[in-house]
Amino acid sequence: MSDFKSIGILTAGGDCQGLNAAIRGVAKSAIKQYDMDVIGFLDGFRGLAENRYERLGDNSLSGILTFGGTILGTSRDKPHKMSIGDKVVDTIAQAEDNYHKLHLNALVCIGGGGTQKNALRLLKKTSMNIITLPKTIDNDVWGTDTCFGYDTAVEIATEAIDRLHSTASSHHRVMVVEIMGHNTGWLTAASGLAGGADVVIIPEIPYDIEVIKNSLIKRNRKGKRFSIVAVAEGARPKDENEIPNDYEDSAAVHLTHRLAELTGLETRLTSLGHVMRGGSPTAADRILATKLGTKAVELIAEGLSGVMVADRGGYAIPVPLEEVAGNRRIIPNDHPLLESLRSLGICLGE
Ligand code: F6P
Repeated sequence: MSDFKSIGILTAGGDCQGLNAAIRGVAKSAIKQYDMDVIGFLDGFRGLAENRYERLGDNSLSGILTFGGTILGTSRDKPHKMSIGDKVVDTIAQAEDNYHKLHLNALVCIGGGGTQKNALRLLKKTSMNIITLPKTIDNDVWGTDTCFGYDTAVEIATEAIDRLHSTASSHHRVMVVEIMGHNTGWLTAASGLAGGADVVIIPEIPYDIEVIKNSLIKRNRKGKRFSIVAVAEGARPKDENEIPNDYEDSAAVHLTHRLAELTGLETRLTSLGHVMRGGSPTAADRILATKLGTKAVELIAEGLSGVMVADRGGYAIPVPLEEVAGNRRIIPNDHPLLESLRSLGICLGE
C-alpha cells in the first residue's frame, strides 16, 4: 500500500465531454482502492492559486458520469501569468504553498495542450508531484492516440452534417459547416467522413479556392444540386493573398462568401461552435476518461510523477510530460482518415 494519502484534481482549459467521468474515475479509485482523501480545486489553476476547493466524496461523485461540463469548473488561467484585478501575477509559489498546506501527495491536472504546458511548468518549478490526463474535443494532444471529448464532439458534428443534408437538398444549396478544432482538422476530417461531406477543408492542407470551386461546379453539372462543405475553424488558404490581412471574420465566413461569389450557387454557413462541447459524453468517452483516470491513481500510488496518462493502442500508458508539453498532434498527410476521404473522391481543396 502506498504512503500517498491525499491527492488534488483540477480541470483546466476549455471544457469537453468526459471531464466528470475522469474526475469520478480518479476520485473513486483513490478513495476505494487506496483510502486516499481527494480534493477538487475549483476553476482550474485559479482555484489552486486561490486555495478554493471542495472535498470529493460519495455525495459529490454520485451521478456525475453522464453529465457534460465539469463539476469543478474550469478556466484558461495560467499559473505563471494569472490576471488578478488589473495585474498579471505569477502564482506558482502560491500554488505550491496551498498544495503543501493541504498535505497533498500529488495533483492530477486534466486538460488539453495548454494544461500540459502549465503542468510541466509546475513540475519544474515546484516540489509538487504532477500527473496529467489528455482531454479536448480537438484531439490534438501529443503522445496519445485519443483524447476524451473527441468522440462525443465527432458524434455531434456528424449529426449536424446529417441534418444539413436534407435542408441542403431541399433548397439546392451549398451548405458550409464550420467545425471547431483549433489548429487541427481531426474533428472536421472525422465528421466529414462519417457525415458524407462533399468537401472537407482542414488546417493541415491549406486549400486552393479554385479546386473547391471546380469540385462544387462539377457536382452541380452532374445534377447533384446540393453540396456540404465541412471546414475546420483553423482552415487557411494556400494563397495567403486569398484572405486580406485586415479581414476580421473567420476563415469559414470568408470561404462561404468566396464560394458563393465564384460558383454563383446559393450558399449558407452554419457554425457549430460550443455546441460541440456540450451534453452527455458517448460511451467511448466515458470509458476512455474512466480508464485514464483510474490508471492515474495507480501510477500515483506507485510513486510516479511528471507523466501524462496516454491512450496507446487501447492501453493507458504513462508518457513523460517533457515529451508532451509544447507539441501538437496534427493529422499526417498519409493518415487513413485522409486516405479514405481521397479514395471516396471527396475534395480536400488540394
Ligand atoms: O480547445 C477546444 C476548443 O473548443 C477549440 O476547438 C476552440 O478553438 C476553442 O476551444 C474555443 O475556446 P473558448 O471556449 O475559449 O472560446
